[in-house]
Amino acid sequence: MSKVNIKIEGIPFEVEAGQTILEAAKACGFEIPSLCAFNHGECSKGSCRVCLVEATGARGLVASCVYPVSEGMEITISSPKATAARRSSVELLLSNHNKNCQQCEKNGKCELLHVAKITGARDDMYQGAQTPTTLDRLTPSIVRDTSKCILCGRCVERCKNAHGLGILGFEKRGFNTIVSPAENRSFANSPCILCGQCVSVCPTGALMEVSEIEKVDAAFKAGKYVVVQTAPAVRAALGEEFDMPIGSLVTGKMVSALKRLGFKKVFDTNFAADLTIMEEATELLDRINNGGVLPMITSCSPGWVNYAEINYGELLPHLSSCKSPHEMFGAILKNYYAEKNGIKPEDMFVVSIMPCTAKKYEKDRPELSVNGLKDVDAVLTTRELGKLIKRSGINFTKLSDSEFDNDIVGEYSGAGVIFGTTGGVMEAALRTAAYTLTGKELEKVELTEVRGFEGIKEASYNLAGKEVRIAVAHGMKNAKVLLDQIKDGTSKYHFIEIMGCPGGCIAGGGQPYVKPCFLPNEGADILDTYKQKRASALYSEDESKQIRVSHKNPQIIDLYKNFLGKPNSHKAHELLHTTYVKREKFTK
Ligand code: SF4
Ligand code: SF4
Ligand code: SF4
Ligand code: FES
Repeated sequence: MSKVNIKIEGIPFEVEAGQTILEAAKACGFEIPSLCAFNHGECSKGSCRVCLVEATGARGLVASCVYPVSEGMEITISSPKATAARRSSVELLLSNHNKNCQQCEKNGKCELLHVAKITGARDDMYQGAQTPTTLDRLTPSIVRDTSKCILCGRCVERCKNAHGLGILGFEKRGFNTIVSPAENRSFANSPCILCGQCVSVCPTGALMEVSEIEKVDAAFKAGKYVVVQTAPAVRAALGEEFDMPIGSLVTGKMVSALKRLGFKKVFDTNFAADLTIMEEATELLDRINNGGVLPMITSCSPGWVNYAEINYGELLPHLSSCKSPHEMFGAILKNYYAEKNGIKPEDMFVVSIMPCTAKKYEKDRPELSVNGLKDVDAVLTTRELGKLIKRSGINFTKLSDSEFDNDIVGEYSGAGVIFGTTGGVMEAALRTAAYTLTGKELEKVELTEVRGFEGIKEASYNLAGKEVRIAVAHGMKNAKVLLDQIKDGTSKYHFIEIMGCPGGCIAGGGQPYVKPCFLPNEGADILDTYKQKRASALYSEDESKQIRVSHKNPQIIDLYKNFLGKPNSHKAHELLHTTYVKREKFTK
């Protein structure tokens, strides 16, 4: 990489040619306020003007997030002209903004408030007309409130980059410009898969998850038997809500906090991840041995299931019929655990803590209920759990560790834990499929070929003389490549894992925000490294477990012996399997 010599605030530096002023300044230890710029400028269109600086060779002030450094450039951040210009940019944004910060769910994590504070912007400098507002609350997953939108375009880029979908775009013109699905439709009437990736990059409260905290409060108030389960990815990120370093594994503290919050039982969804593996591996081997539809594709990511139902209706028979793990667990809790413990299923209220906004939609699907009772009653994101803990005055970082409840259900293997990252379901399933086919345990359970963040990973295994070819994709852009191969008859795989969010659940749309401006103790490269850090936390929990394969989980063995019979039995199908429906892209 060639270098150029520049001066920032009169101090000479040698920096990489081609960098923007913002990147170069950061590398040299300066913080220029910024708002629309995000991750290597992928979302920056230079629209907010919050990052203005003076630079020689340029005419007037320049947006440092898009303007490149050049040999001999002298950059001034602190001049009265530059500081006043940045302040005015923020004041202009605030002039067309619904400033009800007190009631705003984003308060505390709002980047607009953050730059207002550091630039000294006043919220009443410019008064005038406001752009007409759209408030979209039609889906159970995401709220869109254009009165909080600063038109930064981060969400537009994220949806395109993650999925190639382009659900969001700039609509209307001039003062009436808004960011929305085509024709300002609701997300509910668009091909949005409700993954929440756009929510995770939005700097303001314009895109938020639908909060279900009040629903959980109401269940406690009504005297319900309220139990909770937590997905694997939650423990690898919840600590970030309490300023712990990214990648902190907080399983024990999380369980302690949930017990303090009053949940009657605190279960680990990983138990049901083991159950999913038993069902899914059996289904796969049945399809391979009996000429079933191949490749079989995993079905535990509701964002992916939404994408398949909307875009690839003809491929739905390829999806495993297994419910996702938390839905399986809900069904087992209400139909097995409740009976064993003398609880009426209708009195039980199952809360799932998930890294995902699409799970909120999933739990309302009519197919995911038994005898008219929903498997899961409420879904809270990792961020919402953070709010619940803070609201209750619990000092999370000071909590000592507690264990999950696991009297007759809840025990889990290392295979269940790694479900939370891309490749994890595949690795867990292969550990059990290999045993089922060969009758022998794998010598090495770590299947490193399916680990890591490459868009599409593939491998082939020889199991009892049978070649099993597999592929793993995350983010719909990558999934599309594999799906089009199936459509045109060129797919060579037996089994495919697809996760909706890039990186899998560890980077789901309901996980704590990774906003560098709020993470002063993390490295400048945190947006590139956070997924790996969270995934490593899960792999370390897998390594620490004595049992690392689902079929050896003693409670899963007992569940089949005492209740379900065997994997894919009639009873298992009744409780643990589901169906899918082809859907239109636009419903109105
Ligand atoms: S988005 Fe930020 S500035 Fe706007 S109301 Fe919410 S907290 Fe306040
Ligand atoms: S929820 Fe996902 S699919 Fe929908 S607009 Fe946001 S990023 Fe795109
Ligand atoms: S919705 Fe959020 S991310 Fe999208 S343009 Fe508006 S402020 Fe930016
Ligand atoms: S951060 Fe540079 S223009 Fe928005």
